Amino acid sequence: MTSLTERIEHARTRITKLVFPQDTNPLGTLYGGTALQWMDEVAFLTATRFSRRQVVTVSMDRVDFKVPIPQGAIVELVGDVVKVGRTSMTIQVRILLEDAMIGTQELAIEGHLVMVAVDQDMKPVAI
Ligand SMILES: CC(C)(COP(=O)(O)OP(=O)(O)OC[C@H]1O[C@@H](n2cnc3c(N)ncnc32)[C@H](O)[C@@H]1OP(=O)(O)O)[C@@H](O)C(=O)NCCC(=O)NCCS
Repeated sequence: MTSLTERIEHARTRITKLVFPQDTNPLGTLYGGTALQWMDEVAFLTATRFSRRQVVTVSMDRVDFKVPIPQGAIVELVGDVVKVGRTSMTIQVRILLEDAMIGTQELAIEGHLVMVAVDQDMKPVAI
């Protein structure tokens, strides 16, 4: 039988992206709305992997934009299950800005999203 810790580890989701011009604001750094879309995608994948259910986003909690991410940067998004309820899961999403030449990463954006497992009728179901 798989433990909760193992399920959480297996659900961890990483997506690497290159920041293209169409992803940026007029200052040439990653547009906040694009970042939120990417975060929702990672949270969706993480929650789906954890629950093996259809999930929807019910809440996007505080999101901190700590460091501007320039066009051309490599970023890694990491989703982790940090809280499990009856039908909901809280997913921490971090966006790490990577130094392409050295390989170091720094935390640029962080937020928490609550995802709920639902059935075909959009009713919450236990996970
Ligand atoms: C998600 C949805 C089905 C939940 O319905 P609901 O009537 O609020 O259901 P419940 O009150 O039973 O809550 C279900 C779970 O969500 C949690 N929840 C509901 N609203 C929440 C909120 N604003 N913030 C955090 N958690 C919330 C509840 O605490 C509960 O968690 P638990 O079962 O782990 O204790 C409904 O709100 C919905 O359809 N929302 C639209 C979803 C959507 O379209 N998302 C965008 C596209 S993916």
